[in-house]
Amino acid sequence: MGIIDLERVRKAHMPQTAHLNLNVRGLGPSATLAINEHSFALQQAGREVFRLGLGQSPFPVPGPVVQALQANAHQKDYLPVKGLQALREAVAGYHQRVNGIVREAEDVIIGPGSKELMFILQLVFYGDLVIPAPSWVSYSPQASIIGRQIHRIDTSPDNDWRLQAEELEALCLEDPTRPRLLILNYPNNPVGVTYPIEQLQALAGIARQYGVIVLSDEIYGELHFDGAHRSIAEFYPEGTIISSGLSKWAGAGGWRLGTFIFPPELRWLLDAMAVVASETFTTTSAPVQYAAITAYQGGSEIDDYLARSRRVLTSVGPAAAARLREADCHLPDPQGGFYLFPDFSAHREKLQQRGIISSRQLCEHLLEDAGVATLPGTDFGRPATEFTLRMAYVDFDGEAALQAAAEGVAMDEAFAREHCPNVMTAIDRIQAWLAV
Ligand SMILES: Cc1ncc(COP(=O)(O)O)c(C=O)c1O
Repeated sequence: MGIIDLERVRKAHMPQTAHLNLNVRGLGPSATLAINEHSFALQQAGREVFRLGLGQSPFPVPGPVVQALQANAHQKDYLPVKGLQALREAVAGYHQRVNGIVREAEDVIIGPGSKELMFILQLVFYGDLVIPAPSWVSYSPQASIIGRQIHRIDTSPDNDWRLQAEELEALCLEDPTRPRLLILNYPNNPVGVTYPIEQLQALAGIARQYGVIVLSDEIYGELHFDGAHRSIAEFYPEGTIISSGLSKWAGAGGWRLGTFIFPPELRWLLDAMAVVASETFTTTSAPVQYAAITAYQGGSEIDDYLARSRRVLTSVGPAAAARLREADCHLPDPQGGFYLFPDFSAHREKLQQRGIISSRQLCEHLLEDAGVATLPGTDFGRPATEFTLRMAYVDFDGEAALQAAAEGVAMDEAFAREHCPNVMTAIDRIQAWLAV
């Protein structure tokens, strides 16, 4: 079997009419979904594949939330466009409890995943999209589909790929009154780091000065390893929309429930989004909304679930990062979520001798030769020839790992090897592949 050409796989999914006047011209299906389908196909063909491609939570949905969904299976009516009132209240209460952000139910909109809400926000807000590079795969294609200008601000590995306030200001100075939407994600996908408070304050100051609206994508906030997530909304309340949902912290990506919470100053944007929502998705699934009330109301079982999830991630993420560093990869210490973003440039010469000159080729070879699925840094906005990859350390049995992660158990590499063996074996395989 030859080397897999992921670009060809993605293009094969593109419609034959791609040359016509389509808003998706030049775009393939989401990179993440393409690699997942491809790894799955290889597995079906009998190949052993370690799946570090798709960023899906490994953990089950918390028991009380599953029970609430079962109890509400009979809910069949269309619900209000902005969401079920009791859920909007629970989401506002949650943000007050967890982030100290005081908001009303009226400030909340519920959607079928935060991704859909992001698309609708970009549609109704007329302005440029500003994102750091690297950042999550879908922000920029959404802007392209809508026809918005995209500004990627290059970040540096020396700053652990975090956007610096000076870098944001340099862009704003080019045209100070231009309307802009900055999407900031932390703990972040793809790097796995979050922002210290001083940096959030500095970014908030620049955003306020230039009237930049911030969409703060905090979908991994609950998965901050120390449970110490802070929102930029604390420092720039009037201009920040907080995005979250059930997909990552409650392991319910397939349930499709996302939340946006607005400051009263941006109610006009929320209302505009509701107009589009009423003409598109209508409302989010009723049983899922009823079940989500239980998730957002919280309680000791959910607290325990979250504490255990964080403990598992704290064992496997840093252990995997340490092994990658031993293999001469450069990467920051992960602080939350479930991603690593190693840079293989120390191996550049050797890789070039093997005919590998891009992150996409690196990704293809790792899948073909070592059976490890990852995503190339270029899908996250990095230059094609930079040897960065995103790894989602989620290929393990989350339910068993949660059970094992009781308080007092050492969350070290031994735990990761025992309970997340595929992730650790995948890293061993990469090490061995690099050593050849
Ligand atoms: C950074 C980030 N934001 C948003 C999403 C979208 O999540 P959902 O649409 O499931 O709420 C994801 C999913 O992978 C993500 O990684």
